[in-house]
Amino acid sequence: MTNLESMDTTGLGEIDRGAARVSVDDKAMINARADVNQLLPMKYTWAWEKYLSACNNHWMPTEVGMQADIALWKSPDGLTEDERQMLKRNLGFFATAESLVANNIVLAVYRQITNPECRQYLLRQAFEEAVHTHTFQYICESLGLVEGELFNMYREVPSIADKDAWALKYTRNLENRDFRTGTAEADQNFLRDLVAFYVVFEGMWFYTGFAQILSLGRRNKMVGIAEQYQYILRDESIHLNFGIDCINQIKIENPHLWTPEFQQEVREMLTEACELEVAYARDTMPRGILGLSAPLCEQYMHFITDRRAQQIGLAPIFGETENPFPWMSEAMDLKKEKNFFETRVIEYQSGAALEWD
Ligand SMILES: [Fe+2]
Ligand SMILES: [Fe+2]
Repeated sequence: MTNLESMDTTGLGEIDRGAARVSVDDKAMINARADVNQLLPMKYTWAWEKYLSACNNHWMPTEVGMQADIALWKSPDGLTEDERQMLKRNLGFFATAESLVANNIVLAVYRQITNPECRQYLLRQAFEEAVHTHTFQYICESLGLVEGELFNMYREVPSIADKDAWALKYTRNLENRDFRTGTAEADQNFLRDLVAFYVVFEGMWFYTGFAQILSLGRRNKMVGIAEQYQYILRDESIHLNFGIDCINQIKIENPHLWTPEFQQEVREMLTEACELEVAYARDTMPRGILGLSAPLCEQYMHFITDRRAQQIGLAPIFGETENPFPWMSEAMDLKKEKNFFETRVIEYQSGAALEWD
């Protein structure tokens, strides 16, 4: 099988009886010649390690008690009107964002990644996005929120709709059933989708939301939701890093795609995405609350945008060097995170041994 048209990139084609065993050298992120159904021999240990870390981080939203949150939410003076508005919009953004991300993985990304260890991680990630969507169902039910208000918010609140519409146009490029990588144009379309969803959606847009909720939690408010967001943040930091590794590996294997024009285009995507996030911060927090304000969130988003640019090998866009929320870095620091979650992680690992009698 030499030409691209005859390659089985889904893994669901005719069995090539008598074909030679898979060689690691034939494995590739996109447009691979190697059989996508054979995990071993393994090429990308970074993908496998993320799969293992993700499995060790297993959690379910229903394990987190919501009594304190329910009491505070129902108490007439538990939260200010500004805090309620911020919380509702925050939940409304995430409630459907998790589904958009999941649909992009399952219906667009998975099909084009021709590597089984990356697909193994994508299957795990897809499950985690389901757990995250479950979290918003559980919060909605616990607090007695209006279902339609929360889940339809991405069609009703312009600053949320604008972000989702921006990302959706990149996955729509791939949605056509006949879309497949294999030309420079198609491969660049695929890279744009990875940038839009992994770098922007999960790597930039989730972070204002995390900062808002963790800021509430630091003030002992809505502590159940804050704990759930810490688990989501831990999952998302692996999703983001998986996406960054995928982009960088595709660049290494296909240097002709990463042209100066294309790099400029990606920089413009990050700049636009940052502007959309700043608008969302203004919309969710018209006045300052909880040590947060729209201008501080803007500075934070400049800092995050530059960090993401650097992670995919681009020069800074804003040159903002100071992180206004250093406590967010602490929440993301892997070692501290491990300490923070140690008991739960150990619990799951020891609980893995089944008894048969
Ligand atoms: Fe998620
Ligand atoms: Fe995610």
